[in-house]
Formats: sequence, C-alpha cells, structure tokens
Amino acid sequence: MKHESRIMGKATAVAPSNIAFIKYWGTKDEVLRLPANGSLSMNLSNLLTTTTVEFNHDFKEDLVIINGKKETLKNNRALKHLARIKKLAKIKTKAKVVSKNNFPSGTGLSSSASGFAALTVAASAAAGLELSEKELSILARLGSGSACRSIPDGFVQWLDSDTHDTSYAKSIYPPGFWDIVDVVAVMSTNKKEVSSSEGHKLAASSAFFETRLELIDEKIKRVKEALQTKNFRLFGEIIEGEALELHAIYITSYPSLIYLLPGTIRMMHAVKKWRLAGLPVYFTLNTGQDIHLICEKKNAKKVARLAEKIEGVQKTIINNPAIGARLVKKHLF
Ligand code: PMV
Repeated sequence: MKHESRIMGKATAVAPSNIAFIKYWGTKDEVLRLPANGSLSMNLSNLLTTTTVEFNHDFKEDLVIINGKKETLKNNRALKHLARIKKLAKIKTKAKVVSKNNFPSGTGLSSSASGFAALTVAASAAAGLELSEKELSILARLGSGSACRSIPDGFVQWLDSDTHDTSYAKSIYPPGFWDIVDVVAVMSTNKKEVSSSEGHKLAASSAFFETRLELIDEKIKRVKEALQTKNFRLFGEIIEGEALELHAIYITSYPSLIYLLPGTIRMMHAVKKWRLAGLPVYFTLNTGQDIHLICEKKNAKKVARLAEKIEGVQKTIINNPAIGARLVKKHLF
C-alpha cells in the first residue's frame, strides 16, 4: 500500500530584510524585545529569506535547516520561535523548517529580520493560525526585534511602546512612495563577533545612551518630515548622523563594540567625497561591517559602480523599497 503522507499543514513565506533609518538599539524589556525607542525603516527588495514550514504527524522531532545547515542547539532562536508558534496554535505536531537567504547572513545585513519574519508568516499559516498583520508583527518581534518591521509593506515605523500587545510595526508609506534605493556594499562575509542580541544589552553602558534617548523623538519627527516632503538631502543628513550616533554608542559601550572594518571607513570617506563632487549619496550602517549607500534611483547604478572600486568591497546589491513578508505558493521541499 502506498504510504500516505500525514501532512497537517504546509506553507512558504518570503520576507525582506529591512534597513533602519532610525535605529532600534537597546531594550526596555530584553525578553519581550521591547525597544528603548521607536524606529523607522524601509524593506529591501533584494535581501530575501524564503522559508517553508511543514507540520506532519509522521515527523519524530522538530527539524530546522537554515542555508543547508541543521540547527541542533536546544536554545536555538529559530527552534524556540517555532515552539512559541506551536504553543499559540495549541499543537504538538512536529515540524520541518527549511530556510534560505539569497544573501550572506550574520554580517550586518539583518538576516534575522527577514529570517524571523518569514518563519513567523510561514509557521503560523502552516499551523492554521489566522493572524492579522499587527499580530504577525508582534509575534515576529519576539524572534528578533527588527523582524517586526519586515512584516508590513514599504516604509515602516515601529512605534515606541511599553507593552507586548502595543509594540508592533506598521506601514507609513507603500514601496512606490519614493524612488530611493539602498546600494548595499558587502565588505566581508565573515560573521560578526558580537551579535546584535548581545549588543543590545550593552547599550545602556554607554554614557551617551541617555542623551540619545532624550533626543530621539525629535529626530524621528524630523526624519518623517523629510520623508513626507521627499527632501532627499535633509533625509540623508539625518540618517547618516543617526548611523554615526549608533556606532558612537557601540564604541563607547563597555566592553566596546567595534564593527567597522578598514574598507567600511574607506567607503565613509568616499561617500563624503562623492557628495562634494555633486553626487547625492549618504551612508547608513548596522551591527556589522557592511555599508548601506542610500541614493535616488536615478543614481543607483553610478553609486554601485563607484562603490565596487573601493578596496575591500566584495560586491554590491541594489535594493528598491519592497513589500513586506508574504505567503507564496512554491515550497522549498
Ligand atoms: O533585531 P536585532 O536584534 O537584530 O537588532 C537590530 C539592530 C540594528 O540593525 C542595528 C538596528 C535596527 O533597527 O535594525
């Protein structure tokens, strides 16, 4: 007799990574991942995670395979997130999860944002949960804070909030609102030594963190105005200053966090030089050595070409503003 597969539910999701223009750094609640401040981001069209989740009564254990590697540790974040979703759906059935990034992970390109957003959407659909965008964003946040911003479309804000049920991200403009691009310059595919989850815990050890929090609401207001009026120069100046402020906090934390590589610094100088020569481009950085060059779409190819000439750059990836996490029909297995 032919063996009947006892699939209980199967779903596949694609989710974008996102670049924060105003950064989430430090938490009010480490376990719930309630951020110290609100943040603002754009979803990225070419940094994508695809994840398939199948619940099957024949499976003997939960299995998670990320980029071809089986995750085994009990405290693995993806396995823990899967357990969280199973608990919510009140199911004990074992699952197989296969996840693939189309870009290097753990180097500062926010693979945890796309990864946890895709896992949240695929696993909750496969488990039969029917969650709203807000509920999905809240759930994704528990896996990785910035993942909550990869759920809604386009330009996204994660509001400052003190409770689990009110800390989520929502779209403020659709992807087509503004033709700006993020040209990512990949500097090294080496994994960073301190993950952002660990780094968040050190934020408050910087003497400048308190001042950052005092000024951040005003900065968010200004960047939203620049976004609304599509004032690229003002927008660029604010977001570049914000990235430098984030790294000032890193460097002055105890122990200090130094993510910038010589190539990253070379690129920062080059961007300033290009600007002086009349090319409007600004940089932003996350927890890692890779650098994001923000420019208008009409200048994207030129910026990528120039960036590729800088010593230390391995490759560039041009990203347009993108839609958030969504279910797709084509499964990975
Ligand atoms: O979501 P996490 O824990 O990976 O933290 C993200 C931290 C930054 O990328 C530096 C900033 C942000 O808002 O994405």
